[in-house]
Amino acid sequence: MADFDTIFIGAGPGGYVGAIRAAQLGQKVACVEGRETLGGTCLNVGCIPSKALLHATHLLHETHENFEKMGLMGAAPKVDWVKMQAYKADVVAGNTKGIEFLFKKNKVTWLKGWATIPAPGQVKVGDEIHTARNIVIATGSEPSTLPGVEIDEQTVVTSTGALTLAQPPKSMVVIGAGVIGLEMGSVYARLGTEVTVVEYLDAITPGMDAEVAKTFQRILAKQGLKFILGAAVQSVTKSKKGATVSYKLKKNDSEATLEAEIVLVATGRKPYTAGLGLEALGVEMGPRGTIKTDAHFQTSIPGLYAIGDTIAGPMLAHKAEDEGMAVAEILAGKHGHVNYGVIPGVIYTTPEVANVGKTEEQLKEDGRAYKVGKFPFMGNARAKAVFQAEGFVKILADATTDRILGAHIIGPAAGDLIHEICVAMEFGASAQDLALTCHAHPTWSEAVREAALACGDGAIHA
Ligand code: NAI
Repeated sequence: MADFDTIFIGAGPGGYVGAIRAAQLGQKVACVEGRETLGGTCLNVGCIPSKALLHATHLLHETHENFEKMGLMGAAPKVDWVKMQAYKADVVAGNTKGIEFLFKKNKVTWLKGWATIPAPGQVKVGDEIHTARNIVIATGSEPSTLPGVEIDEQTVVTSTGALTLAQPPKSMVVIGAGVIGLEMGSVYARLGTEVTVVEYLDAITPGMDAEVAKTFQRILAKQGLKFILGAAVQSVTKSKKGATVSYKLKKNDSEATLEAEIVLVATGRKPYTAGLGLEALGVEMGPRGTIKTDAHFQTSIPGLYAIGDTIAGPMLAHKAEDEGMAVAEILAGKHGHVNYGVIPGVIYTTPEVANVGKTEEQLKEDGRAYKVGKFPFMGNARAKAVFQAEGFVKILADATTDRILGAHIIGPAAGDLIHEICVAMEFGASAQDLALTCHAHPTWSEAVREAALACGDGAIHA
């Protein structure tokens, strides 16, 4: 008899959610985690701490930008960076302890330490070997840096170091205009840092609907972020003041340098599988360091599964969570499933940016006939009342059937508004289904309904 039905390796959103669901389904479950606290990158050094800093600095920004307009007079608050860091740490601790509580509640055993897989069905933690019928690798990802760029997490940092800088710097170069670069760039720009974002491509946020990306860049530029696009970073060298970033402009091959106190390298992440012993096991790998899996998350080794950032697909906490639940259900003999066509993406800047499904660019490439229903937040009374009328909701629907194919939102609470469309898409809804649904007034959600109306006979307030 094996010690456990299933051992999850890694207690990030994929592993801990999978472990809880597997236990709920009656399995004897363990989860291996070497970090001092549960929750993985997301809770400890990713999604959650960054949201705390985004929240605090957003409020600070509001005091500068909008308080006087509302008759709220007086000096804007001063930043106590140490206290802000303590607030962030409290938020993280509250969440990681919450998972510890959930593990106890669901009788998931936390095996503390770093795991290796010496043989199929075995997980070694420290000197001890634990046996399991199934093993699920959920070890997440790590920053993928550039060749010739040395990270010290003090001056040249990844998102991890960017969350715990000794103080907000005077200047910062962000390499990569992706999600991390723009969220952390926003945090520091709001704290008064001069932020310059250097991006290899000619637009920010690769893969995002081009119209949204353009609007997003314009709004961020207004907030003080500078952008150098079409620029390939060649090297980063430490200097007296901080570090020097050398880059080459793609359009004319000219080279230039930028000097900053801090350089944030945000050029993507790669699967973190080092030390598991996958090579010795002969596990088949996919592109870019991912683990190859079948439709049931099983690797080339029977009984060995992988989910989340270690396998193909977007590196998102909620995608990993869904895969964690799905694999737990499959292992319990149920029909676990992830609908990869309806995975939302959110950037937690102000305004927020959110998307689900196809972009216009993808639909054109697919040669699909589609219609666009667009509604600006300028026509939304609630957004105007709170100075958040920039941006829009855009719904893409099939030209013939009216079925919703994708949605792109830039505006207030976009990260929450998007889920109405996710649910609609799960149910195969048409834009008219959304348009016929009564939406409370005055809410930001009305902008979603108006965009749906715009797919038909037209929006009312545009
Ligand atoms: P990313 O893949 O979103 O963006 C990286 C950017 O760096 C790209 O625009 C790329 O063109 C650029 N780049 C690459 N090499 C370059 C070079 N030599 N010079 C200039 N630019 C260069 O990666 P990011 O922002 O590091 O995020 C990593 C992962 O974490 C992503 O998968 C992201 O989805 C996830 N994440 C998600 C969040 C969310 O959902 N809110 C928050 C933070 C991270």
